[in-house]
Amino acid sequence: MRPVIVKLGGSVITDKRKPFTVKRAVIRRLARELKEVWEPLVIVHGGGSFGHPLALKYRIAEGYRHRKQLIGISHTHLAMERLNRHLIEALQSEGIPAMACQPSACTLTANGRIESMDLRPLRKMLALGLVPVLYGDVVLDAAQGVSILSGDQMVSYLARKLGASRVVLGVDVDGVFTSCPKKDSRARLLRVITPEDVELVQSMEKEARGDVTGGMRAKVQELLELARLGIEAEIVNAARPNVLREALKGKRGLGTMITGGK
Ligand code: IPE
Repeated sequence: MRPVIVKLGGSVITDKRKPFTVKRAVIRRLARELKEVWEPLVIVHGGGSFGHPLALKYRIAEGYRHRKQLIGISHTHLAMERLNRHLIEALQSEGIPAMACQPSACTLTANGRIESMDLRPLRKMLALGLVPVLYGDVVLDAAQGVSILSGDQMVSYLARKLGASRVVLGVDVDGVFTSCPKKDSRARLLRVITPEDVELVQSMEKEARGDVTGGMRAKVQELLELARLGIEAEIVNAARPNVLREALKGKRGLGTMITGGK
């Protein structure tokens, strides 16, 4: 049983301009779209305006340095749990047997990279027909005390460990562009990215403002790891109705494909 892994980007499900604000109608629509997917699913969501502002305020991605960060770690995690609850409730309303999986309770990182993740409960959930829902989280880190584990890194890890049939990343733009489409009107949509496109990926903007886990370039890098292993991924615009549904049902070419060969 090879699951499909889907990530719902923080900018799709939250309003990044307003702290702790969910896009309720979008979440409801996405739950309706996900209901139409018959393959086993693992859902991962990002932090958006719930996770990033707090992680930034308490400098959590930089590691543990001061006791004052402890309350920030607690706040950041709770904010993510709150966002997760919105998602789970919307999925349940559509009859999807969604069940939260707390990443910080089963994962350790070292310098921000996953070192271990106990996937036994998650595998059991999948075997039963439940739909595990994970999220970007603040996690304990063997080298730096704490780190911010992005949903993107988790997606890549889970896809490898669970042998995913496919990965779909839902973002709020049409895919990967030559430059940021929100700032540059000449930005061109890339249809396919392969492991050979090293230079292209290097030239992409590294940081997105207010994002502690590294914007589009980090996403592409995670997915290229999968492409090298033969696991295909696509980055699509989940802010447009039905795009995520079609991608999850197997339609290719709706956004940017990240695959092993052109
Ligand atoms: C970030 O997760 C989680 C926290 C900041 C706690 P992601 O990096 O996956 O979130 P988005 O999708 O970019 O918002």
